[in-house]
Amino acid sequence: MSDSDAPNLTIRDVTPADEVVVRDLVTAAFPSDVEARLVHTLRHCGALVLEQVAVDADGQVVGHIAYSRVTPAAIGRGQAIQIVCLAPVSVWPDRQKSGIGSALIRASLDRLKELGEELVLVLGPPAYYPRFGFDPVLAKKVQGPYAGDAFMALALSESCLRHLPIEVAFATPFEDFE
Ligand SMILES: CC(C)(COP(=O)(O)OP(=O)(O)OC[C@H]1O[C@@H](n2cnc3c(N)ncnc32)[C@H](O)[C@@H]1OP(=O)(O)O)[C@@H](O)C(=O)NCCC(=O)NCCS
Repeated sequence: MSDSDAPNLTIRDVTPADEVVVRDLVTAAFPSDVEARLVHTLRHCGALVLEQVAVDADGQVVGHIAYSRVTPAAIGRGQAIQIVCLAPVSVWPDRQKSGIGSALIRASLDRLKELGEELVLVLGPPAYYPRFGFDPVLAKKVQGPYAGDAFMALALSESCLRHLPIEVAFATPFEDFE
């Protein structure tokens, strides 16, 4: 559990008691329930590496983030590095643009580093993720189902860069998005 830079916000791991509010929050943040169903499926197939929520001073869950395992597609190259995918991140619509998403992303990236994760991939707005260090140029060294400026990568360790380029596979529930 960590206190975030945003005032009166605590970032902590998800517990089973959060499941319903997380479903409602993710559904509210996106145009449909596709992302909420993705979170549910990833969680229950054991693909999630880290799932955290931001909780405000009143104890309300106001943000959610999930990271799932990404595996090297071929035996050999890249087997030595730990890779995750950030998806999705959600803040209640009426609480957006007050620093919650940034606090959640920064705290969870610190936690991933503590856990020994080395490379983080994301598919999202190119105007948002570079502020956390995500880089579309680095992601060009990661071959998989996604490409383009919205596909970005962040190295949490220097040593993982030696293992690039690599080809990767995302957790099975992402096949609906390919
Ligand atoms: C994206 C999201 C998690 C950001 O959380 P937040 O708490 O609103 O963001 P913060 O307050 O930390 O940061 C606000 C900044 O992010 C920018 N931003 C937010 N959503 C953005 C988007 N979809 N595209 C580009 N920039 C975005 C804002 O313009 C603002 O920029 P500024 O700092 O230059 O003014 C939140 O807006 C959300 O839940 N959106 C709907 C779901 C979604 O699109 N998730 C991301 C894809 S997985």
